[in-house]
Amino acid sequence: MADAAQDLQRWIPRLLAAWRASRGRPSAPSPAPLRGAKEVRGQAPPRHERGRGGPHGRFSPRGPGATARPPADVLAPDELREVAAGVGRLSRGLTRERELAGARYLDDERLLGAYLLFYWPTSYLQARGTLSELPRRPRSVLDLGSGPGPMAFAALDAGAAEVVAADRSARALATARALAVDAGEPIATREWNPSRGRPLAELAGGRRFDVVIMGHVLNELFAEGERRSGGPSDELVRRADLLAEAAGLLAPEGSLLVVEPALRDTSRALLRVRDLLVARGFAVRAPCLFRGACPALLRETDWCHAERPIEPPPLVAQIGKAAGLRKEAVKMSYLVLAPPGAAWAEPPPGRVFRIVSEPLPSKGRLRYMGCGPEGRLGLSLQEKHVTDGNRRFASLLRGDVIEIVGAEPRGDGLALAEGSTVRIVADAGRPVPSAPPAREPGPARDP
Ligand SMILES: C[S@@+](CC[C@H](N)C(=O)[O-])C[C@H]1O[C@@H](n2cnc3c(N)ncnc32)[C@H](O)[C@@H]1O
Repeated sequence: MADAAQDLQRWIPRLLAAWRASRGRPSAPSPAPLRGAKEVRGQAPPRHERGRGGPHGRFSPRGPGATARPPADVLAPDELREVAAGVGRLSRGLTRERELAGARYLDDERLLGAYLLFYWPTSYLQARGTLSELPRRPRSVLDLGSGPGPMAFAALDAGAAEVVAADRSARALATARALAVDAGEPIATREWNPSRGRPLAELAGGRRFDVVIMGHVLNELFAEGERRSGGPSDELVRRADLLAEAAGLLAPEGSLLVVEPALRDTSRALLRVRDLLVARGFAVRAPCLFRGACPALLRETDWCHAERPIEPPPLVAQIGKAAGLRKEAVKMSYLVLAPPGAAWAEPPPGRVFRIVSEPLPSKGRLRYMGCGPEGRLGLSLQEKHVTDGNRRFASLLRGDVIEIVGAEPRGDGLALAEGSTVRIVADAGRPVPSAPPAREPGPARDP
C-alpha cells in the first residue's frame, strides 16, 4: 500500500479544495467549481497548470484584507467542526442504525463534503489494495455507485486509461468531474440507478470493461426486500442478479470487484450473494480459495473481511480524532468475480490457506483461522514448537496466503509441529500464483 498511500497524499489538497469550493470557503489552492460543472467528460487543464491549483488559478481573497489562506492539507478549526459533525452523522447512519443506507445522503452538501474528506481516502486505498490482487492491470474500468469517484480515480492511478463513473447522485458525479478537472485525469460520468430497471448494457453503450467496480454500494441496493421462508431474501437475489448483469459487461479476462463495509451484517450479506453466484457457476478470483458454499456462513458469529494497516493522511487523522473514529487500518469485505463461463484458477499446490483472522494468541499458543481449498480451519502453533522453518507463522497478516507442510489434524483444525514449515505464497493484497495446468502424459522421451 506504500505507493497507494503516496498517491493518496496528492489527492488530499484536491479534496480539500473541492470541499472548500462547495462550501464557498477560501481555498488554497483553488479548485474547479463543484456546482455547475456540467460537462460529462472532465477536461484536463493545460499541463503547466496541473497540480498547481487547477484551471482557475489560485484563490483570490474576496474583499480587501481577506488574505488568510487556510492550510492546504488539513482543516482550520471551524472547518473541522463542520466536517466532524457530518462524519459523525454518516458513521452513525451507515454503520449503527443504518438509516442512511439507501437514502440520498450524498445529495446533502454537508454529508457529501464529509464523505469526500474522510471516507473518500479510505475507499481510494481499498480500491488500490484490491486492484493490486488482479492478475492483470486493467485498462478500461466501469465504477458503479461511484459517488465522488474514489475508486474510479484509484483505478486511474493504478494504470487504467479509461474510466466511466456511474451513480444516481448528480451532485456526487459533479464532484467527481471537478476532481477530474483539477487532477487532469480523464473520467466520464453517467447517471445510473439500478432500481429503475434499465439494462446495464445501455449504460455501457456496447463496451466491455477490464474491471467493473462496485464500492460500498451493493449493501445499499434493494434493501426493502422481504425474506422468503428459508431461502435468500429478495434483496440478495436482486443483488446477485445485478452482479451477474455487471459481470456480463466484462472483457474475457476481466474482473468484477465488489467492496463492502467490514461490518458483520454487510459482510455476511456479501457472502450469501457470493454463494448465490457460485451456485450459478461463477468463479471467485479473490479472496476465496474454497470453491464450495462459504464456510464463514456456518456460524452466525463469523464473517470474512480484509484488513490492511495504514498510516492515515494527516487530514483523515485530524477528522477521525475530532469525530471519535480511528483509522489505523483499512478494513473491508470484498469479492473479485470472473466473467460468466470462466473457470476457477487452480490453487497453488500443497496445503494452502488464506489467513482470515487476526492473530489469536492463548496460553503459549498462537492460532489463526485459515481458509483454503479444503475449507475454513483453525491453524495453531505452540511457542515451544517454533523453529526456523515455521517462525514465519508468528507474523502473518490477515489476507496472507501461506503453504503449510507437516501439520497434523487437531480438534477442528491443524496443529503445526517442530517439523512443520510455513511459506508465504502471496502477501495480503498480492495476486495468488496459480498452479501450472496439469500436463497430459505424453509419449516417453528418449534419454
Ligand atoms: C457509500 S457510497 C460509495 C461511494 C464510492 N463507491 C466509495 O466506495 O466510496 C454509496 C454510493 O452508492 C450510491 N447509491 C446508493 N443507492 C443507489 C442507487 N439505487 N442507484 C445508484 N447509486 C446508488 C450512492 O449515491 C453513493 O454514491
